[in-house]
Amino acid sequence: MPFVKYEPKGDIAYLVIDRPEALNALNAQVLADLDAALDAVDLDLIRCLIVRGAGEKSFVAGADIAQMKDLDPAGGEAFGKQGNDVFLKLESFPIPVIAAVGGYALGGGCELAMACDFRICSDTAVFGQPEVGLGITPGFGGTQRLARIVGPGMAKQMIYTARNIKADEALRIGLVNAVYPTGELYAAAEKLASTIAANAPIAVRACKKAINEGAALAIADAVVCEEKAFGSCFQTGDQQEGMGAFLEKRKHEPFTNH
Ligand code: CAA
Repeated sequence: MPFVKYEPKGDIAYLVIDRPEALNALNAQVLADLDAALDAVDLDLIRCLIVRGAGEKSFVAGADIAQMKDLDPAGGEAFGKQGNDVFLKLESFPIPVIAAVGGYALGGGCELAMACDFRICSDTAVFGQPEVGLGITPGFGGTQRLARIVGPGMAKQMIYTARNIKADEALRIGLVNAVYPTGELYAAAEKLASTIAANAPIAVRACKKAINEGAALAIADAVVCEEKAFGSCFQTGDQQEGMGAFLEKRKHEPFTNH
């Protein structure tokens, strides 16, 4: 029985981390299941993914501490690589991925959320990188992605203190884009995902690629990523229809991914 469920819903789909008995903690099998679930996504049909945790209490409460406890340095490095490999796959996944964080997003859970394109959360969400309190560093990208999202000063404070933050603070520092009352989170995630899915899929994918690839580059090189993305949209059916509809003062037909 896989720990990650792939649940398509029209042209959007959920990936549900489903190990509620351990607050959805990530062991090697959960990571392998997440990798397999990504492979199962029908990219001809699905235009946006939502990652969430099963149950009310937790998005993901971190990497599995019981599984990590007796690792040696090589084993720790290998486990870190397994997590990083699947999170990189998620980060560079062709379509947008929204993290819908209900409850705990700690350690590897915060790192999973950060590998998504952006994060929204419930008002009960708790974020943190508690690793130094366990005698380790973050292992699935936390030392790198947190600084890129909230800036090095705030990232260092969170990581060095191992202090958890609540939803309102996560919003204030830009770790999440919006906070919703518990019970409204997944409907809000679906609305966002559907809004994205209604836009021209080739253009949305090209935006994601350009933003991700340009992020690590100097601006003069980064804009070249955009030029390639921009050019790739022309003469697609969706570009012809989108611009044609504007010029003919009519609503465009649903975009087709062509
Ligand atoms: N690993 C393994 N099991 C975990 C877990 C984790 N990260 N988080 C929770 N669980 C398990 C608990 O052991 C418990 O199992 P049992 O019922 O079998 O005892 C079950 O989930 C429920 O947890 P609690 O009883 O602790 O629930 P709580 O409501 O009292 O506390 C919590 C919730 C504050 C999230 C607490 O569970 C907690 O602090 N969890 C650990 C959080 C953490 O430190 N995460 C970082 C891990 S290190 C990491 O992620 C490294 C990396 O970057 C790759």
